This record gives sequence, C-alpha cells and structure tokens, in this order.
Amino acid sequence: MIGLRADAAVTWQDGVLTVANPFGSVSARGLTPGIAALLGELPGVVVSDDDLAGKLLAEGGAAEEVALLYLVLDRLRPVLVHGVDPLLRAVPIARDAGFTLPDPAAETIVRLSRFALVRRAGDGLVLESPLARHRIELTGEAMPLLAALSRGVPLAEAPEALRLLLATGFCDPGEPDDPALRGWDFHDLLFHSRTRVGRHDEPFGATYRFQEEPEPALKKLPEGEAIELVRPSLDADGPSFTAVLEGRRSIRQYGDTGLTVGQLGEFLYRAARVRGVVPPQPGAPYESSTRPYPGGGAVYELELYLTVDRCEGLENGVYYYDPLGHRLIRLPARPGDARAMLAIASMATGGIARPDVLITITSRFRRMNWKYSALAYAATLKTVGVLYQTFYLVATAMGLAPCGLGSGDADLAARTFGLDWAEESSVGDFIIGSV
Ligand SMILES: Cc1cc2nc3c(=O)[nH]c(=O)nc-3n(C[C@H](O)[C@H](O)[C@H](O)COP(=O)(O)O)c2cc1C
Repeated sequence: MIGLRADAAVTWQDGVLTVANPFGSVSARGLTPGIAALLGELPGVVVSDDDLAGKLLAEGGAAEEVALLYLVLDRLRPVLVHGVDPLLRAVPIARDAGFTLPDPAAETIVRLSRFALVRRAGDGLVLESPLARHRIELTGEAMPLLAALSRGVPLAEAPEALRLLLATGFCDPGEPDDPALRGWDFHDLLFHSRTRVGRHDEPFGATYRFQEEPEPALKKLPEGEAIELVRPSLDADGPSFTAVLEGRRSIRQYGDTGLTVGQLGEFLYRAARVRGVVPPQPGAPYESSTRPYPGGGAVYELELYLTVDRCEGLENGVYYYDPLGHRLIRLPARPGDARAMLAIASMATGGIARPDVLITITSRFRRMNWKYSALAYAATLKTVGVLYQTFYLVATAMGLAPCGLGSGDADLAARTFGLDWAEESSVGDFIIGSV
C-alpha cells in the first residue's frame, strides 16, 4: 500500500511532477497527464499499487503507461507513505527517507530495535526511532505483533509488516552489533536526533508556540533573610587573560581556611550578576537581561543556589543568589538535604572533594520552551557549559579552587530549594573552595 502525507503538495508543471513534503521534495519528468492526475489524489490516502494501476487502465491507460507508473512510484519512494493494512503505516519524516524492501529468508528472526519507542501522538499511537527517517502509525491490531517483536518474530509470521519495519529501520534482523551504536544510551540517541534538524518533522527553533506571557526575565525572589554581597571594582588589575586561560584547572582539594564571604561575593558578581534588564525588542519580544556569560537566545533561564559548608562570614546553609540585587537569600532547607547535596557533589569527584561551596545551577524550563521548540533543553545545557567556563575563569583569576561536575540529583535539589521538579530543577553543579 502506498500514499502521500496529508500535508504533501503535488504539482505538475511544464511536464515535471513535484511532490513536496514539509522537509523536502522529489520531482519526476516524462509523466502522462493520467499518472499526474492519479498522484494528485494521493495526499492523505493509502491505496495498493495494483489498485492505482487498475484505475489507470480503467481510465483508458495503455500497458506502457502502467509500466511508467511503477517507474515513477519507484522514483518517488522517499516521499511515499507505505502501509500494511490493517496494521501500520510508515510516514516519511525527513529528507533521505530511503525505502528499499529487504528480502531476508523466511526463517529470519526479526526483533524490535532497542532504540524504538511507542508513544501517543494526537489520538493515535506512533512507533518512532532516532535511527529511522519514518514514523510508524500503529493500529490496535498491531499491538500483538509489536509485543512479540520484543523477543523476536520469524519473518514468515508477518512478512509484509516485518519487511516494512526492516526497510524503515525499526527492526534488526538477527543480532545487530554495530560498533557505532553499541555505546549509545536510548535517551541520548533520541535527544541527539530530536535536538538537531535532519531526522524529524517536528516544529523546530524559535516558534513562540504559546499565547500566554513568557516567564519573567527575573525569578520572583523567595522569602527569607537577605545577605548583601560585596560589589568589587572591575578596574583592579589581575592576571593576564592568557595567564588565566593557561592556569585554569580543576582543583578538588582545599586550603586550611575556607573561602570568605567577600570572595564569594566577588566571584558571583564577576561571573553571574545581572548587569541590566533589557526590554522586549523586535527579534526578541520578551524581557531579557545582560550578564557576564553568554546565554542561548538571551533567555537567561538559569538560576543559582548555594549550599555552603565552609565560608568565613556566612552561616552554613542553603541560599538563593539574587543576580540583580547581588545578594543571597537564605532558604529554609532541611540540614539533612543540604548534607546530602554536598555528599552527592563529593561523590561526583570520586570522594576527593569536600567543597566549601556547592553551586547548583537550575533552569526555569518554561522561560526557554516558551520561545523554542525541540532545542530548548539542548540550548540550556550549552548555556550551562559556558557558565561553567565563566566560573572556571573567574575562580582561576581570583586564586580559588573550581571544579565543574557532570552529575547531580535533580530531585533532591528540587526538594532542597523548594522547587517543582518539572518547572525548575538542577541542570548543572559546580564546586568552589579556597586553594
Ligand atoms: C561538563 C563537565 C563535567 C565535569 N564533571 C566532573 C565530575 O563530575 N567530577 C570531577 O571530579 N570533575 C569533573 N569535571 C572536571 C574535569 O574532570 C576536568 O575539567 C578535566 O579532567 C580536565 O582537567 P582540568 O579541568 O584540570 O584541565 C567536569 C568538567 C566539565 C567541563
């Protein structure tokens, strides 16, 4: 069975037929008006190749025209929908959605790829995979086959459907052992495929898909005691840029005396304060801010929370950093949670570091996904990376001990800081201390 996506556009002009999908098009020339008219009816429907040929003959087409039809269908394969009734339809979702039906032996055991997933899309169920350039629309009748495919099904049991799943990259014949795929976690490969273009047909980039107002540029301040921090002069001479860059390294062991609150204030001011609030403007229709580090889309969705274990002049505890007021706001975190935050940070260093201060970077996710589709979270992680580097460089210039961490407990962080995990939770962790 073949068809075209409902949103495909078929045009026939100057003897050239073009089928355009949202992600690309394919053209064919040398067609007859009868074939062009048949293909023009295909968007949104699925018919058998033989029915199509029969219709051509019924409308007075010659045998040569039927042969031409099959040639044209072969050429159009990357933009065609392929179906096996009543089980499934394979809808192309990307350029280069090649489709060549394999012909393995009947006794071949076919198994679902470990990268495939089933989810609800609209009112239906779809099977997707980062390795595929098609999406499979499933019916309820396909469920027993799908369930059996977790262990493996001989090709002969459902040859048409299984050949289609093999052709579109959802199944592996036998035991696959592609070294390029062996190390990929399921979620990482999906994330990679969906946060860049080329392998999906989802909305992408700055789509501004929500009607409501964006989250404010600056988070509403939590209640709590405020501790004003020093605002250092930025004119003071320091080490050269090259000396900072070349001297930067991760340090996981600390001096006998801890960091001071003055150093902490200077560090935060130089790396992460809000320099100014920027009103909405053409091209960026939302309130923004400028800060020492670059931020994807100037969205600045990241927030900083400090878990303090040893800082002269500052009580141990958990604080929110107000980047505009340049002060800390003490949070009513449970001491056990604060200890657990520090222990997990220490574990990330293999138990080497016992940091003076853990800086947890959270994201106010809605601020970013109000603007961007598909890439919002990937852009957030990139911004976390540049903030890490800014932390590293400022700490090095100040003679402090910095170290970025690759993991943290987002659930624990949400609980410690009194946040809703889905709305704002941790995306980065950085430790500093005295040298
Ligand atoms: C994104 C990122 C994650 C990191 N995660 C950890 C970590 O979890 N534990 C740790 O001890 N060091 C971590 N580091 C520090 C690296 O191990 C360190 O940068 C690397 O070994 C190079 O050493 P250098 O920073 O001294 O040049 C991380 C660094 C970055 C940039």
